[in-house]
Amino acid sequence: MSVSDHIKTVTSANREAWQEAAPIHAKHNQAELIKSYSQPGFTELDAVETERLKALGVAGKDVAQICCNNGRELLSVKNMGAARCVGFDGAQGFIDQGRELAAAGGLDVEFVCTDIYDIGDEYAARFDIVTITIGVLSWMPDLEAFFAVVAKLIRPGGALFIYEHHPMIFMIEPGKAGDPIVWELSYFDKEPYVETNGLDYYSGEEYEAKPATSFTQTMSEIIMAGVNNGLAVEHFEEYPHHISNTWYNVEAWELDLPMCFTLVFRKG
Ligand SMILES: C[S@@+](CC[C@H](N)C(=O)[O-])C[C@H]1O[C@@H](n2cnc3c(N)ncnc32)[C@H](O)[C@@H]1O
Repeated sequence: MSVSDHIKTVTSANREAWQEAAPIHAKHNQAELIKSYSQPGFTELDAVETERLKALGVAGKDVAQICCNNGRELLSVKNMGAARCVGFDGAQGFIDQGRELAAAGGLDVEFVCTDIYDIGDEYAARFDIVTITIGVLSWMPDLEAFFAVVAKLIRPGGALFIYEHHPMIFMIEPGKAGDPIVWELSYFDKEPYVETNGLDYYSGEEYEAKPATSFTQTMSEIIMAGVNNGLAVEHFEEYPHHISNTWYNVEAWELDLPMCFTLVFRKG
């Protein structure tokens, strides 16, 4: 199988799993988000993300979000004063939810339903800032090819902002606060990880789901995928706080692990 066939096989199957999760997410959070985004200036962004985006001067900038899901973060970026905002996601159900939230807030945000690997040249060099946040990288079967697409979208002098789960936490079986810490995978594991218990991380609702395949990637692989695609590291920080809806056991553990990181690349 060629590399591009492998990418397509994985991302097409994952798209079905995400599409299946979309109405389940909506059942648990869409009504609340509609109410929230009806208030001017509402934000879903935490202090770390807000500060980092402010430092990048997001107000007045053209911003794209990769794998934007229902747009809850991108709409907040718009509320920070960003100019053109475009969210890309592969699941039509999430795109529809994003459009509904934008309409509720009267926010001019575009949503594009596409596999990230298929984003076309009409978006090349159109954005000052591209964002990747909370639960994206591990779904990418080929990190180098993914960063090639992302780097293409950024204007010269523009930035890529990443706020993600630290790859170290993927070694541990997720759990509730107080659940034991079970080291499950090697940090260097290269086997695809297939799950069928559902992708509804908002409510934790489990269902017999279509298979979803994710991948473990080391911090150095993530950094080098950017560097190999012409991006220079401008900022990198690791944090002990929790940004997922799953690893409450790690959050509650008395030993701090790096649970997330921020990384800013600059395009020359
Ligand atoms: C965990 S969610 C992102 C959550 C979002 N950052 C938030 O906090 O609300 C991952 C998203 O990636 C999308 N996705 C995964 N692989 C993709 C691909 N190859 N192309 C486009 N979208 C993809 C899924 O549809 C899903 O909406």
